[in-house]
Amino acid sequence: HTYDRINVAIDGPAGAGKSTVARLVAQKLSYIYVDTGAMYRAITWYMIQEGIEPEDQHRVNEKVRDMVIELIPERDIQKVLINGEDVTPHIRSLQVSGLVSQYAKIEDVRSRLSQLQRQMALRKGVVMDGRDIGTTVLPDAEVKIFMTASVEERALRRYKELRDAESVTLQQLEHDIAKRDRLDEGREISPLRRAEDAILLDTTLMNIDQVVEAIVSHCRSHVDGE
Ligand code: DC
Repeated sequence: HTYDRINVAIDGPAGAGKSTVARLVAQKLSYIYVDTGAMYRAITWYMIQEGIEPEDQHRVNEKVRDMVIELIPERDIQKVLINGEDVTPHIRSLQVSGLVSQYAKIEDVRSRLSQLQRQMALRKGVVMDGRDIGTTVLPDAEVKIFMTASVEERALRRYKELRDAESVTLQQLEHDIAKRDRLDEGREISPLRRAEDAILLDTTLMNIDQVVEAIVSHCRSHVDGE
């Protein structure tokens, strides 16, 4: 029934497990998953390739205006294309993670991506994760979740994810995550914060299945309750 479809906004700090959970929630509901962080990461990678620094806002804005960004949902991952080029393999690197907040605070970057994200959600049936979905991108989303976990737990989760790919210490990850939290919460435009009507979900002591179940049951009760 297309008329029961709702939008689900999942926000929270780096490493809370949003993307894993959001993907599984979307699968369970047969909804589309939109990973907005991947879009900010893709722009960051592209700017690095083009040699455009975040301070050079004029050139950033010019590039952002002209580029074509596409998200292609596949079975396990979601591909991001910029001007037709698949940039997905590059966007999770430490280099991109370290610089993404610098580009994500630029007004034209945010307005361009927010506009694309709203278009993706027009027909409902979308689970979207990010930092500002419940507050700015989809303020009318029927279900809003704010997912957190302690910095230590989030660093540990990232560590387990990354360990094979790159040599990094747990301490360094904790440091990086705390720094990214500060930048994401402190920026002027659409900072990371919980929407007043978002459900707070502290996942420090929860496993993935429990988190997914909690969110799906909120969605079901919303759909059934109307
Ligand atoms: O969720 P993630 O770690 O892939 O996000 C990468 C960065 O992108 C994050 O540090 C902040 C930024 N971001 C944002 O500003 N707004 C969003 N809706 C999603 C991500």
